[in-house]
Formats: sequence, structure tokens, C-alpha cells
Amino acid sequence: MRLDDSIAAIVTGGASGLGFAAAQSLRATGVRVSLFDRNAAQGEAAAAALGAMFVETDVTSEASVEAAFAAARAVHGQERILVNCAGVANGVRTASRDKTTGAPKHFPLDQFARVIEVNLIGTFRCIAKAAAGMMTLEPLDGERGAIVNTASVAAQDGQIGQAAYAASKGGVVGMTLPIARDLAAEAIRINTIMPGIFNTPLMQSLPEPIKDALALSVPFPQRLGDPAEFASLALEMLRNRYFNGECVRLDGAIRMPPR
Ligand SMILES: NC(=O)c1ccc[n+]([C@@H]2O[C@H](COP(=O)([O-])OP(=O)(O)OC[C@H]3O[C@@H](n4cnc5c(N)ncnc54)[C@H](O)[C@@H]3O)[C@@H](O)[C@H]2O)c1
Repeated sequence: MRLDDSIAAIVTGGASGLGFAAAQSLRATGVRVSLFDRNAAQGEAAAAALGAMFVETDVTSEASVEAAFAAARAVHGQERILVNCAGVANGVRTASRDKTTGAPKHFPLDQFARVIEVNLIGTFRCIAKAAAGMMTLEPLDGERGAIVNTASVAAQDGQIGQAAYAASKGGVVGMTLPIARDLAAEAIRINTIMPGIFNTPLMQSLPEPIKDALALSVPFPQRLGDPAEFASLALEMLRNRYFNGECVRLDGAIRMPPR
């Protein structure tokens, strides 16, 4: 996919972190970017900083996502690019004992479902709607569109407490190839990045000793990932027309231990 001001893109979770970095790199090429995020204050500020459009969106809501695509397309035209970064995490053991009474308790199912709703179903909802829209376009340089998803190394080495998060990201990894096959006849590509530990606002809020320990756990380079490095791979997946149906770890060779 050529990246220039004739192309429209949507970045979910674009108000912060990896999504913001991807949107920033897309804007640097001239691509017209719409940020879909549920955080209105941060989304408006991000859009102003990038010269992008912000649409308050909850990826778990069919009506919200439907309205967001309509709003973005009314201003920027039909998107040829979708980058999915909206995501949430939690940490709860499948079953554990109450610290004071020793009584067994289990992962609250509503909390499990919430992570799946955002990370897996929210991602698929945006993919499905973007792909249907891209199908209305004539191919450009042989392709109609390109999609990048964000999973996590937790899809392969989820840690203690990450059953829901790992399941959601494993789902994103698992659906990448079948979606690529579904969309092949329409000349739409899809790929997924599995980030290791990146220096996003979530990580920046951790105490320094914990950040230092996390950095030391990365074989090389021994530091947290820079969101610009995530954006660089996302743009390569968009640009490179032979990149399709693939899931790539971007992690400095880290393999997450149980905890
Ligand atoms: N930072 C890391 O180390 C890391 C590692 C692996 C995977 N990831 C994944 O990368 C993605 C981005 O993470 P980040 O670190 O940039 O986090 P972040 O919290 O900085 O950004 C996530 C964004 O998603 C938005 N969001 C959450 N729920 C939403 C919803 N229902 N609808 C719309 N927007 C919603 C948030 O408002 C936020 O702006 C996530 O999917 C995360 O799981 C991050």
C-alpha cells in the first residue's frame, strides 16, 4: 500500500501508546488519520497534536463503531488502512485462595468476558466493517486495503493471572490467517504484531525499580520497546504488498516467565 495523502486510515486506541505512535507515523507520510478511542479528552488532544480526526468510539458497541466509521468516512473518505490498537488487560488467577480466610475463589466471569469483548471481538468488529467498506473501492496498485492488529507475546507465553488477556490475544493471532484467506479474493491484506514490553503510558506509570527489572528481562536490546519501533513494523506491514496472514513478535527476544 502506498502511504500518502490520497489514503485514509483508522487507528483504534489511537489516543495513547502504540496506537498514537502508529497514527503519528502514518501522519508523517501524509495519510489522513482518524483516531477511534473511548477516551475523549486524550483523543481530542492526540488528534490536535497529529492533525488527525478524533471520533469517540467504544469498540465493544456495535452502534458506536458503526457511527464512528460513518463519521470518519464522511470527512476522510473510505479508509484503505485499519490499525487495531484498542486494548485492555487485567490480572486475576483462574482460581485462588482468599489471603485471609483461605477460601477458594475464581476469576469473575464478567471480567474475563470484558477483556474478550474489547481485545478480540472489538478487533474483529472493526476488521469486518473496515473490510466491507474497502470492498467498495477499486484496487490501488493491485490491492484494496491493508489491516494491522495488535496482539501480544502473551498470546504465546501468557503469565500468571493473564488467562483472559492471553485468550483474547491468542484469538487475534488465531484469526489472522483465516481472515487473510477470507479477504484474499478482495485484495485486502491483514497482519498482526505481537509486542513484548513497550514503553507506553501504562508502563511509564510503574515505579522505576519495576521498569528497570522489566528492561533487564529483555535479552537484547536490554530496554523496553519504543512505540516508534512498533509503528515502524506496522508501517512495513502496510507498505509491503507481500506481507500477508502473518503474526510477528516484536520483543527483543523476550520469553515471558510464569510471573
Ligand atoms: N505496552 C505494551 O507493552 C504492550 C505489550 C503487548 C501488547 N500491547 C497491546 O497494545 C495495544 C495498545 O496498548 P498500549 O500499551 O498502547 O495501551 P494504552 O492504554 O496506552 O492504549 C490503549 C488505548 O485503547 C483505548 N481503549 C481501551 N478500550 C477501548 C474501547 N473499548 N474502545 C475504544 N478504545 C479503547 C484506551 O482508551 C487507550 O487509549 C493493546 O491492545 C495492548 O494489549 C501492549
